[in-house]
Amino acid sequence: MKFRQTPERPAAEAANEARAVTASPAEHLGDLISPISGGRVPRHVAVIMDGNGRWATQRGLPRAAGHRAGTENIRRVIERFADHGVQYLTLYAFSTENWNRPQHEVRMLIRLLRFFLRREVDNLHKNGIQLHLLGHVETLPEWLQRQIQDAIALTSGNDRMVLNICFSYGGRDDILLAVQKLVREEVPATEITEEAISNALYTGGMPDPDLLIRTAGDQRISNFLLWQAAYAELYFTDTYWPDFGREDIDMALSDYARRKRKFGGLLPEDIEALRGS
Ligand code: FPP
Repeated sequence: MKFRQTPERPAAEAANEARAVTASPAEHLGDLISPISGGRVPRHVAVIMDGNGRWATQRGLPRAAGHRAGTENIRRVIERFADHGVQYLTLYAFSTENWNRPQHEVRMLIRLLRFFLRREVDNLHKNGIQLHLLGHVETLPEWLQRQIQDAIALTSGNDRMVLNICFSYGGRDDILLAVQKLVREEVPATEITEEAISNALYTGGMPDPDLLIRTAGDQRISNFLLWQAAYAELYFTDTYWPDFGREDIDMALSDYARRKRKFGGLLPEDIEALRGS
């Protein structure tokens, strides 16, 4: 994987620092400035990678070919988001419900995780990407668990971007496990706050996603990051995941840059307009 360090990066970093001082309340989310487009970029992007099957069928290929093409695509997507300065990228690779697919497809997706780790980990490491696996890793074969642990350990010191691969992950399950953890730790009911639950989720310590993208036309969340995506901007595209490339990413980010995020409150300009009326 070849990540380019764009020459504009130092200027963008300076702009980000300046914004940290001047940010308005609605910008507490900490959006950054893209070194590529100069526009606002989300700190955390989450993606539902849908449409591998349809991509393959459209070409008269078996579904497996779609999943392989989808796995190939992950590399260029990581590269583009990292170039834009996105700090967290969370990809939905296999849901708790995906275990209900035919056994041969489940086995194929597990093999693709192995293939992805084997092929990409060194590149991820060289490019400063920190890898996390979110989900029921313990349900995977032991050899794969070891491979996952090695990859996580190798990349743990990296700080350019965090890549979360959600595998055997479900949003409701994530919340359930977090609550069970707090109960097991005998946290008193009065101390079970939103912050306590957030910290007990798989994504504990990470910012919530600012932008949630779903490819392939369907407009639903499918049990992905249910707690964390409470205020995420949603972006749906008809493009199938294996085709979702640089231009699609740039379009999604420029759409995001135009969104007004209010978090249930009002923007400073709205308050100003109210004062004037
Ligand atoms: C949806 O396509 C996609 C998935 C169920 C899995 C996404 C997986 C990958 C991109 C490859 C595996 C990645 C790793 C890191 C192992 P679909 O089969 O639901 O497509 P369809 O809706 O068109 O049938």
